[in-house]
Parts: sequence; structure tokens; C-alpha cells
Amino acid sequence: MLPADLDPDRIPGHIACVMDGNGRWARERGLPRTEGHEAGEEALFDVVEGAIEAGLEWFTVYAFSTENWRRPPEEVRFLLDFNEQIILKRRDQLHERNVRIRFIGRRDGRVPRRVIRRMEEAEVLTRANTGLTFTVAFNYGGRAELVDAVQRIVDSGLRRVSERTVARHLYDPDMPDPDLVIRTSGEHRVSNFLLWELAYSELIFSDTLWPDFRREDLFTAIKEYQDRERRYGSLAGGGR
Ligand code: IPE
Ligand code: IPE
Ligand code: MG
Repeated sequence: MLPADLDPDRIPGHIACVMDGNGRWARERGLPRTEGHEAGEEALFDVVEGAIEAGLEWFTVYAFSTENWRRPPEEVRFLLDFNEQIILKRRDQLHERNVRIRFIGRRDGRVPRRVIRRMEEAEVLTRANTGLTFTVAFNYGGRAELVDAVQRIVDSGLRRVSERTVARHLYDPDMPDPDLVIRTSGEHRVSNFLLWELAYSELIFSDTLWPDFRREDLFTAIKEYQDRERRYGSLAGGGR
């Protein structure tokens, strides 16, 4: 059930989420960091259910950044395996829920072939679905995305470049810019997420650590979003 104070006509079309705080959640409990990542899975799929309930069209999560390779090799290996397992375990459930799964990020040699295969399988399985588009940013960096876009524009021989040209060369040209970006765990930074796309996104920072985040927290953020006024450089009330 959606909370009564949410306006169903003003649900943001696209919410993106920086799922942060897994390590601190584990540390608070005297557990290894990896258990924080494991606990984050329940949060993620509860929030995906909330996104479906709220009628969102696009929901994007930051699962692994181009900078996360700097972590200890055991944690990196765990995250690669864990993400592969999640795709395998959840793809049928998401497919039944009419969710279209997509991945954005660099599919370069650092990502094991088998993980890339799982991503492609999930995308193919769900590509005709018409419900929520659930995008996972994996080996994703906003600067890498822009570098890759510029490289492809150069390779294509285009001489004139507009904002539309850049947007068309991003990892998923169909993806609308996020209306709302939520970051958990009390960190107030962007950490190289969707640099181009979040130009005019509303930003909400929650102190909740990701493994404790649930659909109710998503609804609270949507409520705060609905109470804001987006101006896009213009004036309040549409410029008059
Ligand atoms: C977010 O949690 C998950 C990833 C970055 C993969 P962290 O692992 O960053 O948790 P903290 O920030 O150390 O608490
Ligand atoms: C951002 O979180 C990346 C993901 C959530 C996947 P980090 O924990 O890596 O970001 P920093 O290092 O605190 O900026
Ligand atoms: Mg973190």
C-alpha cells in the first residue's frame, strides 16, 4: 500500500540510488564487511518491490563503481561473485514481475566473462517486459561513461556535437535522466555516479545504512521529492 500522503500523479519517472553503508552496517555488528553486502540484497529487492508498487518506470542502482577495484582483492572477488549469484537467483522473479533488467558500465576485461554473460542473459530474458526498467550500474563510472561516449563520437567521425549527440552515446541512450537520486549512509557526495544524467536531479541523502533501507524509506524520499520545486534555472511558478 502506498502512503496516503503520496500524490500518485507526481511519482518521479526515474529514481536512482547509491546503495551505500554496507560495510559500516557489518562493522556495527562485529561482522565481516561481506555480510553487510549480503544483507543489502534484502534491502534492494524490497525497494524494487516498492518501486513497482509506486508505479515507477525506471529505477537504477549503483552496485559497483570503477573506483571499487581499489578495494582489497578479497572484497572485489566477493562482490563479483555475489552480483553474479544475485542475477542468477533473482532474474526469474524479476521477469515474472514484468521487470526489464539492464546494466550500464564498462564491460571491459576486468569484469569476468561469466559475469558479463549473466548480465547479457538477464537483459535478453527480460528485454520485452513492459513494467519497471531496473538498471544496475556495474563497473560504472560517470567519467568513464563520458570518455566512452566521446570516444564513440570521435570513432563515428561526427564533426558537430550537441547535448543530444552526447546523450545518444551514453551507455543506455533510452534511459531518462533521474528525477531523484537517493544516497544512503549519511555520505553527501556523488562518487562518480551518473555525472551527465543528474544535472537537474533532486538529491536526497538518508542517514539509514543501505541494509536497513526499505520501501517505506523510498516512499518517504518520494514524499520529500513531491514537496520540492524543480526550477531548471527558471523562476518559481513557471517563470512568471
Ligand atoms: C556500498 O557499501 C556497496 C559498495 C560500494 C559495493 P560500502 O561497501 O561502500 O559500505 P561502507 O561505505 O564501507 O559502509
Ligand atoms: C559508491 O559508494 C559506489 C557504490 C555504492 C557502488 P562508495 O562507498 O564506493 O563511495 P565512496 O568511496 O565513499 O565515495
Ligand atoms: Mg561506501
